[in-house]
Amino acid sequence: MKKFSVLAYLLASVTTHAQSQEIDPTSGLIIAEGWELASAHCGACHSYKLVTAQRGDARFWRSTIRWMQRTQNLWMIPEAQEQVLIDYLAAQYNETDWGRRPGLSQNLLPAR
Ligand code: HEC
Repeated sequence: MKKFSVLAYLLASVTTHAQSQEIDPTSGLIIAEGWELASAHCGACHSYKLVTAQRGDARFWRSTIRWMQRTQNLWMIPEAQEQVLIDYLAAQYNETDWGRRPGLSQNLLPAR
């Protein structure tokens, strides 16, 4: 029963979300203009979740990319493509739509 209610909860939240945005099932990225660039460049070294869990404006995303290029061996992305990518990130993962999830229930937290 418990498993079932978790599933029902997940389904409910997925379907309510799906009304506003389509999510690529492989990467978890929101499908919108430029998402293929994020799919091509942003999942090679770490999970896409590291991307989708972040929020920020264009300046934030640009500096995150610069930081990875400076310190984490991220390759150069051609400028025109990079602009589309940053526009995508800033539009879909902007701090203004930062929605905090509800707190985890006690049984999901590490023991103290
Ligand atoms: C060449 C490898 C590489 C690629 C490709 C890459 N990253 Fe990263 N990125 C890293 C590393 C390494 C970290 C640090 C991971 C950690 O702290 O565990 C990181 C961290 C991050 C973080 C977290 C930063 C923070 O402050 O915690 C974000 C957001 C991020 N990357 C976004 C992106 C985006 C967007 C792209 C696509 C443009 C991308 N990454 C592509 C290597 C990469």
